[in-house]
Amino acid sequence: MSSFEFGNRSEEQRNEVARGARALVVLPDIRQRGGGLGDDTEARLEEGKGLALAIGIEVVDAFVLPIRAVRPATLFGEGQVERMAVAANQSDAELVIIDGALSAIQQRNLEDKLKRKVIDRTGLILEIFGERAATAEGRLQVELAHLDYQAGRLVRSWTHLERQRGGFGFLGGPGETQIEADRRLIRNRMARIRRELEQVRRTRGLHRDRRQRAPWPIIALVGYTNAGKSTLFNRLTGAGVMAEDLLFATLDPTMRAIRLPGVEKAILSDTVGFISDLPTQLVAAFRATLEEVTAADVIVHVRDIANPTTSAQKKQVEEVLADLGVIGEEGATIPIIEAWNKWDLLPADERAMRLDLIAADVPDRPVVPISAMTGEGVDDLLASLGTMLTGGATELELSIPMGDGQKLAWLHAHGEVLSEREVESATGEPQVRLKVRLTPRELGRFNSL
Ligand code: GTP
Repeated sequence: MSSFEFGNRSEEQRNEVARGARALVVLPDIRQRGGGLGDDTEARLEEGKGLALAIGIEVVDAFVLPIRAVRPATLFGEGQVERMAVAANQSDAELVIIDGALSAIQQRNLEDKLKRKVIDRTGLILEIFGERAATAEGRLQVELAHLDYQAGRLVRSWTHLERQRGGFGFLGGPGETQIEADRRLIRNRMARIRRELEQVRRTRGLHRDRRQRAPWPIIALVGYTNAGKSTLFNRLTGAGVMAEDLLFATLDPTMRAIRLPGVEKAILSDTVGFISDLPTQLVAAFRATLEEVTAADVIVHVRDIANPTTSAQKKQVEEVLADLGVIGEEGATIPIIEAWNKWDLLPADERAMRLDLIAADVPDRPVVPISAMTGEGVDDLLASLGTMLTGGATELELSIPMGDGQKLAWLHAHGEVLSEREVESATGEPQVRLKVRLTPRELGRFNSL
């Protein structure tokens, strides 16, 4: 299979991974996860459910089980396994998600006992990344992480579950020798992906290319998982399907064309949600899925402002943005706007208090309270985005050779062309002289054409 097969799986194939599956989510409370969002198990359980929802899994039941002594064979105690079995039967769950790390043996034993497919947090996150990776590098990184994860899980009873797990169908029905062969296959494949990654990095310029190819400004939505990015994305794009969507939907389902005040077309790009306690082997894959963000003209940081851990979430998101080079020591290199989402959940006095805090809390960037759910504030957000993208537009006189269709077309697509006439240059070449309004950012792009 070609190395791009994973990334290019059709929507339908992708969805067979787990979309629509009924799942029981269990959070093993080992109290060792550290960092992240702290000890609030309810918040962590919500986050785990959010991860499942992010790939369309239906969560039919969810609870926390405290782990006092780790059982090497099953992680959980016998009574706890029994409780999970009962809950899974009662809620008719097809899948059990353990929101923690399972060894291959634990996973297999739990599957035997629960008589269902069991996946752990890393497995779940890999599925999400697999869906969201949009760049070549992102896809390769995710595939690498996935293979690495699978290589550790090549055990006899593993493959009957592969059907549901989706993704890498080459690991079929092994006996012992088959397992050996599979291992070799995986190793070879990982080596090949590493080489391809090298190649992708060498020929990088991806962003610049994309930027130059993309005829419209790009707005990237980022945010902690469950902050409401998809809800906002759907609200902003749901109003009317534009013809260009067909193109973008095929290239990448997380991109859509939208219209803003003063901006005829912009591309809205959704990204994978930020996740706390990311298993270390996934960090590279996560970063790679986020590369798109560095090509954006404006970043909308969607925050769940009603969440008690909203400040910790913001900090984590900004750390990643800093790693990506989007926030430097001098501040953001790409303008960021904060959308304070779920505003509808705040009572009136709380709203007033939060608004008072904005100046102190977020001195350097615009903040717009919104509710992606009710639509409140969304027009303000669009207006702010419009202003940010058109802000500082200046009038310029440009002379362009008549034959340079690309530049002329670009100016018509992006700038506001105020006048246009044909002239002759000093050497008698036909030229077009235009008066056009461009923002500094657009001018930068124009100059790099
Ligand atoms: P990931 O895909 O995990 O990154 O999540 P997301 O940021 O895309 O969040 P999503 O849009 O899936 O929303 C998460 C949950 O919050 C859903 O249950 C939404 O219905 C809910 N939600 C989103 N926006 C709002 C809002 O403005 N108000 C309220 N009350 N709920 C919201």
